[in-house]
Amino acid sequence: MPGFEIIGKEEEKEILDVLSRKMLFRYEFDKQREGIYKVEQFEKEFAAYCGTKHALAVSSGSAALRVALAVLGISPGDEVITQGFTFVATWEAILDAGAIPVFAEIDDTFCLDPDSLASRITPRTKAIIPVHMCGSQARINEIMDIAGKNCIPVIEDTAQSCGGKLDGKALGSFGSMGIFSFDSVKTMTTGEGGMIITNDTDLYIKASEYHDHGHDHNPNVGRGLEKRSFIGFNYRMMELQGALGLAQLRKLDDIILARQKENKMRLKEALSRINQITFRHIPDPDGDSATFLIFSLPTPEKAVAFNKVMSDEGAGAVYWYNNYWHYYTEWEHLLEGKSLSRTGHPFKTPSGEVRCKYSNDALPKTAELLSRALTIQVTINMDEQIPKIIGAIEKAAEVIL
Ligand SMILES: Cc1ncc(COP(=O)(O)O)c(C=O)c1O
Repeated sequence: MPGFEIIGKEEEKEILDVLSRKMLFRYEFDKQREGIYKVEQFEKEFAAYCGTKHALAVSSGSAALRVALAVLGISPGDEVITQGFTFVATWEAILDAGAIPVFAEIDDTFCLDPDSLASRITPRTKAIIPVHMCGSQARINEIMDIAGKNCIPVIEDTAQSCGGKLDGKALGSFGSMGIFSFDSVKTMTTGEGGMIITNDTDLYIKASEYHDHGHDHNPNVGRGLEKRSFIGFNYRMMELQGALGLAQLRKLDDIILARQKENKMRLKEALSRINQITFRHIPDPDGDSATFLIFSLPTPEKAVAFNKVMSDEGAGAVYWYNNYWHYYTEWEHLLEGKSLSRTGHPFKTPSGEVRCKYSNDALPKTAELLSRALTIQVTINMDEQIPKIIGAIEKAAEVIL
């Protein structure tokens, strides 16, 4: 998935535009910048790419989640439903907003299970964050239906699926807001960075103000004289990141996604020849951003043994079931309620009562799916790796199945 593999002269040119004018900040310095507004330009091009009215660039995907929750008014006591297979940032942002993360199961898409989502909704549910995990789509239409019937806003966590689509519509553009990450290992990268997209102008204006200490961005006065309607914080993106983003976005479809799709197809072909292997359900294969290939073995034992042979052959797969950063039962700090807060916030109230508690065995369906699944990360420059991975797959099939 990494756009960093193809950083080249296009990125250099964009960066030099910024450096040569010594212009690092996205706001102000109008004369010095000679009409160059990289972050603003990146936002415009990203919104056009996704087909949404607005895009707001921020300092990371985590920041994008935090800002999105803030502008929806998420507050202490609220519950926000997400899935137990995601990166920690998804629920860290919920806790940081003072709300309680409620974890639902994944289904065969390895994304939020609509039935499990429906079963977790309570009068306290104030947002839903489905995650388009590992490059492709959640059952977002079903999720939007359930959310709509219950009048609950949806924030799509599209951090891992930039460029993905469902029936031609950009992932991230179905919900009230969609968020993206451009960190160092993402499909396209700005080093660190993130984006929020939305068609709701009111939410966009709030997000733009909140991510910049509440500045009202009044074009008729200087920045120092701007007023505030509410408190905010600093989640701004800088011009160098905007410059990188522009160059990477222009390579997204024709280079990054095209090469990933080709590589994924070659790997999938090899796996398809093996009888006992099944694949993750992808609701719209044409819209898959093809950053990961998830396949399953009939039992957890076979999955572990299969991966052992692949590793011995120098081409081990990712086994999310044991992964410290992406799977619920491995989040020991969450399960044990550990924080730096003197009073135990967000796990306890100031008077010491438990606010939220998580048990290891809460997500049996997620455990069952992940325990049998192996994942190959698909990158751009894989010509040397692919024959090695295919050889490892064939050897594993011969020894284990
Ligand atoms: C699903 C998901 N959400 C959010 C994030 C956070 O993005 P960032 O690293 O830009 O803060 C990530 C990063 O890996 C992610 O995978």
